[in-house]
Amino acid sequence: MEFRGIRRLTERQYRIHIRHFYDGPAGAVLAMSSLLSLHEPLVGRMLRRRNFDVTRFHSILDVGSGAGQILGHLLRFAPQHTQIVACDLSHKMLCRARQRVKNHRPFYVAADMTRLPFAEGSFDCVTCGWVIEHLSDPRPGLAEMGRVLRPGGSLLLLATENTYPGMLTSHTWKCRTYSRPELQQACVEAGLPWHEQLWFSPIHRFFRMGGILVEAQKPLAEPAAN
Ligand SMILES: C[S@@+](CC[C@H](N)C(=O)[O-])C[C@H]1O[C@@H](n2cnc3c(N)ncnc32)[C@H](O)[C@@H]1O
Repeated sequence: MEFRGIRRLTERQYRIHIRHFYDGPAGAVLAMSSLLSLHEPLVGRMLRRRNFDVTRFHSILDVGSGAGQILGHLLRFAPQHTQIVACDLSHKMLCRARQRVKNHRPFYVAADMTRLPFAEGSFDCVTCGWVIEHLSDPRPGLAEMGRVLRPGGSLLLLATENTYPGMLTSHTWKCRTYSRPELQQACVEAGLPWHEQLWFSPIHRFFRMGGILVEAQKPLAEPAAN
């Protein structure tokens, strides 16, 4: 039932397609859609309640920041000194995010999540909401996010699940979906084991709705053996 186009194109063709897709009308209505689906306010609630605590980080990278739906909350809830970087494949989406959050604090960087232009261990935290479903194979994106995280750093990963609502959503946003075991295994292979599964609310947890929301952590480096 899910959108199959992502598997029919080469990686390069799909990347070009998705950049044009978000540059265009789909990207223009993304912010409104996140409000109507309640995703944006629900992520805000999760950060405000510190279910994922962003007050502990000195540097945060928001991957696939779109219209700034997570970025706005990071600016609100992360400490003032925290360095915040927003990156997206679509230059147009970065412009929309900048206009929307009306804040000069973040750096805005156009980049593909499978080739992030940052040094190893640059960030304490990476947030990545509803982006990994734009990769037919999640592992290169996860590996890059793991590379730019410092040991002990956290990844907040939000992804479309292979439920009926998730599969319908995949047609709207031209993406794929994930089963929890598949995404969990890919995270383990990328060196980002899951620390905690999160839910927007007890109702979401009970009905297993709202998608896959997880905090993954890059393990601290092992002390060198003598
Ligand atoms: C559904 S929006 C998510 C926006 C926001 N993060 C949120 O939580 O709602 C997906 C965003 O990911 C971006 N994107 C898609 N593929 C990407 C890639 N390979 N690298 C970086 N960004 C990508 C798109 O341009 C789009 O802005």
